[in-house]
Amino acid sequence: MKIINLGSKKLASFYVACELYKEMSCQPTSKLGLATGGTMTEVYKYLVELLEKNQLDVSHVETFNLDEYVGLKAEHPQSYHYYMNEVLFDQYPNFNKENIHIPNGYSSQLEDEAERYNQLLNDRGPVDIQILGIGENGHIGFNEPGTDLHSETHIVDLTESTIRANSRYFESESDVPQQAVSMGLASILKAKRIILLAFGEKKKEAIHQLMNNQVTKDIPSTILHAHPNVEVYVDDEAAPPHIDKV
Ligand code: PGA
Repeated sequence: MKIINLGSKKLASFYVACELYKEMSCQPTSKLGLATGGTMTEVYKYLVELLEKNQLDVSHVETFNLDEYVGLKAEHPQSYHYYMNEVLFDQYPNFNKENIHIPNGYSSQLEDEAERYNQLLNDRGPVDIQILGIGENGHIGFNEPGTDLHSETHIVDLTESTIRANSRYFESESDVPQQAVSMGLASILKAKRIILLAFGEKKKEAIHQLMNNQVTKDIPSTILHAHPNVEVYVDDEAAPPHIDKV
């Protein structure tokens, strides 16, 4: 696992946007594993700029989102469907809708939906690049501490810590859904290349825990030590003390 401090969120986001762009441009049928959350907003901003400037044909690119809240319709402003449309798919409307995959957290048959999404990932995957944020508690996707290291797409009960952290996007903590559909840890590990981003003082401890522990289900991000091709990009605030800036 490589950890690189690019100094600022802006530079790291631009770098990762370039990597995603390069992947799509070199391989028109590439498969991208996408993530949501505050960490990713600038990545998509720069990616849209690159796509627009070069009018890249993305009609054969396929995307797979990590997770979605349970109980929110796609039109709900805090759903990850809505987020993805806002930051990427409405901004650059040349993606083929049939190639955009996000779990349906509003399904009345949630277990079946998790199974369907998992099958889709197995049939269409593996993804070429999976981008990831990290929770303050070390979660990746919505795989909370204690998640089975062999888990595939599943229904997750969100922890207090995640509900509190994500309440900043909702009117109140009680509006935050209590569950999500999430790719599991084993599903994430199937990606050929994984890029994790972490910005700000609040993520410093999670990065410290990731870098200083072997694989343990108490810290879900540590599963990434079992993958041969992981890069972690941080800013000054999230960087561990011994990491030099590049
Ligand atoms: P954030 O979420 O980017 O909104 O901080 C990241 C995560 O919880 O994985």
